[in-house]
Amino acid sequence: MRTEEKLLPRALRGAVVDRHPLWLMRQAGRYLPEYRELRAKAGGFLDLCFTPALATEVTLQPIRRFGFDAAILFSDILVVPWGLNQKVGFQEGEGPKLDPIRDAAGLAALSLDGMIERLAPVYETVGRLKQDLPPETTLIGFAGAPWTVATYMIEGGSSRTFEHSRRFAAEDKVGFETLMALLVEATVAHLDAQVRAGAEVIQLFDSWASALEGEAFERWVVAPAKRIVAALKEKHPKLPIIGFPRASGAHYLGYAKATGVDAVSIDQDMPLAFARDVLQPSVAVQGNLDPLVLVAGGQALETRVRAITDALGRGRFVFNLGHGIVPQTPPEHVAKLVDLVRAIKPARG
Ligand code: CP3
Repeated sequence: MRTEEKLLPRALRGAVVDRHPLWLMRQAGRYLPEYRELRAKAGGFLDLCFTPALATEVTLQPIRRFGFDAAILFSDILVVPWGLNQKVGFQEGEGPKLDPIRDAAGLAALSLDGMIERLAPVYETVGRLKQDLPPETTLIGFAGAPWTVATYMIEGGSSRTFEHSRRFAAEDKVGFETLMALLVEATVAHLDAQVRAGAEVIQLFDSWASALEGEAFERWVVAPAKRIVAALKEKHPKLPIIGFPRASGAHYLGYAKATGVDAVSIDQDMPLAFARDVLQPSVAVQGNLDPLVLVAGGQALETRVRAITDALGRGRFVFNLGHGIVPQTPPEHVAKLVDLVRAIKPARG
């Protein structure tokens, strides 16, 4: 039996498509009442991530409601530090809390040994999804990129300034390099395990890439992504990889060219003309509706969807947000967005 290539991988490799693939970052989550109900039953957020039956169900919720072209595994970028033996917790309404790593002793306590075994429930979820998803839906696996994951490990949670991370990188180059090398290796192992379990496309989230400039950006954003892409492509030559060096502006082009990703996910601040004229000739582009325009809905939503598809719809393109859905998003606006994007015929020429 010949299996048809699905819409998302088709669009990522630049094939002509009869509609634009659509999925949304954080499409499973608190804006959905069925998520909130299940989350309340699961106990902690990590319990939800590590219980395959529940993580599978949460991944499927937005697919049932909206019929997105891709499902993204329900998990979190912070399962990797947890798998490396760092203490990670999620307090309701407070975001993640980790025991911060600031010195050699903190680094020495981390270990890659046994990580894949500790994260086995995540790969079991991928396997279940492979069985349960509609045949036309692509399964996306993901990981945080080393810099973004390192910021949580060093700061001990979310940060606005990344003070400790940037100081660590500048003051203790050897220590920081040790941590980044460990994270590259852990990320490759974690993504490889997801692909072996059934993930068909991978997204690498570098949400805080914009905190670094110049040489630091090259060294801690571009170089690790390049190593991760090369290692994964060596094992899985046809695997499509989407990179998300969020909000890194003109750095996106160098990132796309140097890392070998198949696509870049662009944030809402990226000018559409830059994405079309500078990025699309080199890579597929995914994005970039402002999550708050989705909250607003109405005419603002229609106008912006049109502007994005008019600008990017002639090239290699995947419709998405510029960053994750926010909890206050009305689910009806998501349904409307799906109708709007589905009604647009790609114009090739
Ligand atoms: O996209 C999806 O639907 C798949 C699941 C997914 C989650 N987190 C679930 C989640 C994905 C892809 C992520 C990635 C992630 N996690 C990133 C990169 C993308 C981005 O948003 O920049 C980052 C930086 C994290 C770390 C993280 N996880 C933070 C800072 C928080 C707290 C903030 C928040 O939104 O609550 C989380 C928790 C988290 N991860 C939730 C979900 C659904 C909310 C937890 C809850 O239900 O209480």
